[in-house]
Amino acid sequence: MIAIKSEQEIAVLRDNGKLLAEILAEVMSAAQEGVSTLELDELAERRIREAGAEPAFKGYRGYPATLCTSINEEVVHGIPSRDRVLCSGDLLSVDVGLEKDGLFVDMATTVAVGAVDSTARKLLEVTKQSLWEGISQVTMGNRLSDVSHAIGSYVEREGFYVVREYVGHGIGRKLHEDPQIPNYGPPGQGPRLKPGMVLAIEPMVKVDPEPTKLETDDWTVTTGSGGLAVHFEHTVLVTETFAEVLTRGGE
Ligand code: MF3
Ligand code: CO
Repeated sequence: MIAIKSEQEIAVLRDNGKLLAEILAEVMSAAQEGVSTLELDELAERRIREAGAEPAFKGYRGYPATLCTSINEEVVHGIPSRDRVLCSGDLLSVDVGLEKDGLFVDMATTVAVGAVDSTARKLLEVTKQSLWEGISQVTMGNRLSDVSHAIGSYVEREGFYVVREYVGHGIGRKLHEDPQIPNYGPPGQGPRLKPGMVLAIEPMVKVDPEPTKLETDDWTVTTGSGGLAVHFEHTVLVTETFAEVLTRGGE
């Protein structure tokens, strides 16, 4: 069952999305060479709590941090660490969620630290654009898999591969609600999108086709190949016209 949010819930989600986008923008501007991923995590947690919100990931199934910080061959769910200091040439994906007044929002973005090579640059641009290809299909009456197809087909046309083992999701009263949103597949399937649905769309894209690997910390997902991966995510409201991107800005 895909929840339809009330006007009151939507008003809170709008506020929460704006707050999260502002906080992530501040975190990303602090993501410079020489800074550790734990410092970024501490900054994010402080800002979230100062705003009267709660980190959505901390404690979720035992996850130990506010952010997921995934560098280079790490795809998602990298755990911030004092020992992981950013270097020029790193591709850093940061995923963050918060809950306030009972409603969750979730977003992720990727930046290049210093100078990165042309493949890394292209992977970053293609993944960012793939999210917008998906968002452009979020319109009343379209089917859910139209979003998935738009993302996957765009990524493949550009010569990269989407991660198949992890998917986007509905969001609202919980971090993860129905439906699951794969980043691949044929168009025209699944439920029709209705105004008031809220979706966290999150393409994870890599340079190689190998399946991902779960590291021994039981969280960090890496590309099996050692090749690069990138992640972008927005929380999006279905309306009667175009999608409303609740976490807009800060990407
Ligand atoms: N954006 C990710 C997701 O929707 C982040 C979850 S990390 C976790 O699954 F720690 F909360 F699991
Ligand atoms: Co998510």
